[in-house]
Amino acid sequence: MEERIISLLKRHQGYLSGEELSHSLGVSRQALWKHIQILKELGFDITAVPHLGYRLVSIPDRLYDFQVYQGLRTKTFGKKVLYFDSLKSTMDMATQLALKNAGEGTVVIAETQTKGKGRLGRIWYSPKFKGLYFSLILRPKISMDKASIITLLAGVSICEAIKDYPGEETQIKWPNDIILRNKKLGGILTEVKAELDEVNFLIIGVGLNINNDKKSLISGATSLRQESIEELSRLGIFQNILYRLESNYCLFQKRGPAEVIEKWRSLSFTLGKRVKVYSHKEHIEGEAVDIDSDGALLVRKDCGFTQKITAGDVVHCR
Ligand code: BTN
Repeated sequence: MEERIISLLKRHQGYLSGEELSHSLGVSRQALWKHIQILKELGFDITAVPHLGYRLVSIPDRLYDFQVYQGLRTKTFGKKVLYFDSLKSTMDMATQLALKNAGEGTVVIAETQTKGKGRLGRIWYSPKFKGLYFSLILRPKISMDKASIITLLAGVSICEAIKDYPGEETQIKWPNDIILRNKKLGGILTEVKAELDEVNFLIIGVGLNINNDKKSLISGATSLRQESIEELSRLGIFQNILYRLESNYCLFQKRGPAEVIEKWRSLSFTLGKRVKVYSHKEHIEGEAVDIDSDGALLVRKDCGFTQKITAGDVVHCR
């Protein structure tokens, strides 16, 4: 109901009479008034003037499920959104839902996380209303060794979605750091539940710094706001990321990993650079020459031997 009220008020620039509004919605004037109060509590600025009706003055920068549904260009991704003001981690909530058979494309989003999870056991700092913190449930019919392609696919999708905002060109540091002007803008965490080497479900967790000011960023990180002047709509970026994620996921399902990998290569911040990789207590140094069809990084060591890296932390040498 809230979604329909906002949609009607948005379409109507001036005042919309209570009578017209309740008629279009098929509810009583009293019921309408109650829904308007709910919307006001959620932060929507709606003025009510006797004999004139209701007018939408402003919309809060929130990621409410019903706002996400409006103008979403996807077929399944984000068609079911579970919105939380605060969560420990959207990953845990998404996992619980997936275990209870939540469908592919279901999204859990929170305005803040008290124990946001980063890769390699790190904490993901999630200041309230500043960034995007969400987890997407996927159920691809793939074997475990192909799961990391989905992480690459997510990185590509985020870069493509941001590219739609003029002036912002991001790159990907292997495997999944989103980089803007040499600083970390976002990250992706993938958690997989598999049985007998087949993926049962996969949770893609995305953390992206959008409207963070300096105070709400950890060192070495940046936000879209820090790199441009304007305050951006987190909602618009979120809807765009879902759209790109779905398009690339369909591409991968239909035609396999080749095109996704090719896109990743063209967005890579790592390939062609001298890197140090810390993986499984091993420390490898060399040139990052390519990624293979499973998304593993290929590093050519000084001795000439090319090593395949499936997990680890990459540091770019100067
Ligand atoms: C990284 O270390 O770069 C990955 C960070 C992933 C953070 C996101 S925020 C939404 C989702 N929930 C979590 O707890 N983590 C991921």
